[in-house]
Amino acid sequence: MSVRRLAEDHVQPPAFAFNAENADWAQATIRKYPEGRQQSAIIPLLMRAQEQEGWVTKAAIEGIADMLSMPYIRALEVATFYTQFQLKPVGTRAHVQVCGTTPCMLRGSEDLMRVCREKIHAQPFHTNATGTLSWEEVECQGACVNAPMVMIFKDAYEDLTPEQLADIIDRFDAGEGASVTPGPQNGRHLSAPLGGATTLLDEEAMQRVADRDVAERAVKPSAPEGAAGGEEAVEKGRPAQKGVPLEADPTVASPQDAKGPGGPSKTKDEAGGEPADPKQAEGDTAPAASGRTGGDRTEAPAATTASTQSAPVDEANKPAPVEKPAQPDDLKLISGIGPRIEAKLNDLGIWTYERVASLTAAERAWVDDHLKFSGRIERDDWVRQAEALAKGGEAEYIRVFGKKPR
Ligand code: FES
Repeated sequence: MSVRRLAEDHVQPPAFAFNAENADWAQATIRKYPEGRQQSAIIPLLMRAQEQEGWVTKAAIEGIADMLSMPYIRALEVATFYTQFQLKPVGTRAHVQVCGTTPCMLRGSEDLMRVCREKIHAQPFHTNATGTLSWEEVECQGACVNAPMVMIFKDAYEDLTPEQLADIIDRFDAGEGASVTPGPQNGRHLSAPLGGATTLLDEEAMQRVADRDVAERAVKPSAPEGAAGGEEAVEKGRPAQKGVPLEADPTVASPQDAKGPGGPSKTKDEAGGEPADPKQAEGDTAPAASGRTGGDRTEAPAATTASTQSAPVDEANKPAPVEKPAQPDDLKLISGIGPRIEAKLNDLGIWTYERVASLTAAERAWVDDHLKFSGRIERDDWVRQAEALAKGGEAEYIRVFGKKPR
């Protein structure tokens, strides 16, 4: 890492002032910040000063500190911390900042610096004979995946070979810097693999995940009261949060995984992902009643799971809708049901705990398939939860499951 000090006094200009255009811009920039926070404009103002002067002079640092009512030392701290600020005169056509941090070093930054020494100056922060070029070593520029790389003013040039950097330097020195296309120099797109992307190729699936995340954030379900969600999540080796990894998307997991002859043991859900249905994430607090989470809830509904998997999913098994009662139940108290799943159930004419509890195995299988739940209705034991809630509300639920619903 280069030592960053102000230039010697003899090269410092005696004063600094923004030109008229930049002064207007600076005032407008300062006004963007809330009252009392104007000092936050320090970085854009220093950058504009550098663009105007070619480097950040001591007079500019102090002048900007005055504009922002900052102690000089605070402005100096900012200017000397960020390597984007040049504290000494640099090449008028290119100042090459070579990243020398580990990833770039491992990928050849030493060779890039050798090119700079040969073509510009043996020492960093010295201009070439004509004053058009200079260079320095800097710390990570955040493009490690495209190492090695250099910055020239505001642009990054990545995936460089020494020969390519030599050519780029020559073109800048000839005043043709604008013709050099920034970014990867090896033909790849951004940081995609050479030859094109190899993963995340299903645009539709990615869009569905994005939509689901937006919906999940918008719904913001209440936090689960009990610890069952976390317990089961841990048991299944998956995080207990609501984020849904792409690999759990139903379009990524083959439905056959969940419904094949081998039963549900290969579902994405059980393999470590979240529920298969996008909407399930919003209501997911993990099963409250399945008895699969250990502790004192040891009654596993294995038979019902199996029956769901084997029940024919057929339109004839679609539950008959029930007219909306004056006081629908809050189905969201059933673990595994969130606002959107509740709305879907309501669309099916399912409004009450009693109705959920009365669903036949074939009807549950139909609903499970409709929701793309991969057997979760059984695993979460909606029936037993609904029976408890229908019988005695929250108190009965606590009596049966030892925890509050949701
Ligand atoms: S290590 Fe060079 S850009 Fe990060």
